[in-house]
Amino acid sequence: MEKNFLWGGASAANQCEGAYLEAGKGLSIMDVMTNGSKESKRKITDGILPEYYYPNHDGNRFYEHYQEDIALMAEMGFKCYRMSIAWTRIFPRGDEERPNEAGLEFYENVFKELKKYNIEPVVTLSHYEMPLHLVEEYGSWRNRKVVDFFVTYAEAVMERYKDYVRYWITFNEINAVEFMPYYPAGLVIQEDENRNQVIYQAAHHMLLASAKVVKRAHAINPENKVGCMALFGVNYPRTCHPDDVLKAELTNQDFLGIPDVQIFGYYSDYQLAQYKKKNVALVMNPEDADILKAGKVDFCSFSYYMSMVQGEQREGEPLAKGNMVAGLENPYLENNEWGWQIDPVGLRITLNHLYQKYRIPLFIVENGLGAEDVLLEDGSVHDEYRIDYLRRHLLEMKKAVEEDGVPLIGYTMWGCIDLVSAGSGEMKKRYGLVYVDKDDFGNGTYKRYKKDSFYWYKEMIESNGESLLEE
Ligand code: BG6
Repeated sequence: MEKNFLWGGASAANQCEGAYLEAGKGLSIMDVMTNGSKESKRKITDGILPEYYYPNHDGNRFYEHYQEDIALMAEMGFKCYRMSIAWTRIFPRGDEERPNEAGLEFYENVFKELKKYNIEPVVTLSHYEMPLHLVEEYGSWRNRKVVDFFVTYAEAVMERYKDYVRYWITFNEINAVEFMPYYPAGLVIQEDENRNQVIYQAAHHMLLASAKVVKRAHAINPENKVGCMALFGVNYPRTCHPDDVLKAELTNQDFLGIPDVQIFGYYSDYQLAQYKKKNVALVMNPEDADILKAGKVDFCSFSYYMSMVQGEQREGEPLAKGNMVAGLENPYLENNEWGWQIDPVGLRITLNHLYQKYRIPLFIVENGLGAEDVLLEDGSVHDEYRIDYLRRHLLEMKKAVEEDGVPLIGYTMWGCIDLVSAGSGEMKKRYGLVYVDKDDFGNGTYKRYKKDSFYWYKEMIESNGESLLEE
């Protein structure tokens, strides 16, 4: 791997920080989401109700532990840390004219701490977190006014942190708006609304906001690199029957229809044809085409947890479970405890697929294994299953780079310090290299413990990936 390859870990403010009302922070859409489980979904409540537990309110308490956590990252040799800024710490309601100084100070301290150890921050501006006030008052991204609110927020932080941050990502998993519209876009769609119209109009506004932010980022500092971020794992045909092959091919296109716009600067003909088919009439202002064109991203980042299988669903056949969406079960793969299919080779295929399509540098900003770890009395956690998962994925990534020639900026494994699951709100779905003593209901000391994977990852980074070949 290249010497400057960015090895690291990733998190999101709402899943790790806690301190949900500290220093003037406003409520975000995740602050009104209850906990769930493998079996039951999280609920979005009307305000904060006493009968529920809201796991994001305390996350893993990164807000108080950030120095300790960053020291642990440094000990592992992290070259970068992907994190997000909580919009609600900077603009608590989202429509203020001036940012909240206390919120700005918090992240400045985090960046200073990272700088101390030469850890490059990779900052997502919106990771499943937006001010609740914008949802209640303006209808969220349905409303074009939110574009300006987002740009104001992004400008405030890009200006303030211009000496600290080079890598920016506008929206986490922007294409998830199609499957789980609440997470990336704060959308709760009413029964009498045209679902597709709402989703794609909101996505259009997010794309405009993203493009405007890219342009501003380059003006603020020409060294800034801004990326899109897509949820993506390649789709396989179930058989070589042309119908299955076509379905897999078109599903790949469906997934990337929105990120395409961030990369090419315009909607693909395929995407526009889908809108027509789905009765979506995008409301576009005359200047929109130019805005999109002027705000193309510099790199394509993505999350990879699993591949998917497409084909005709047989009667009674269950779908695989997965990250937001899933296809048919792939009989050649094992599942994790939450039913997500594990496919390291799929990562290599995905890297090739994305690079063939986009021809810009790629960045794997999420990948990892959610599992129920056991903390032993002596403070150890023997997570050989996580080591195995990471090792197999990283080997495929290495092949994509070294044998297939894919230009890759870095790899940040998801949830390096245990945090709250986005999908289920559980704490016991752990991804970390560091264990955090907290249960699904917020009980625990929040003390940090190094898992076996911590030492393994440290050695792997130290060898710049060469140790992968020895095992
Ligand atoms: C990605 C999100 O979809 O998957 C993360 O960007 C999330 O925020 C991750 O945590 C893993 O999903 P989950 O539901 O296991 O937390």
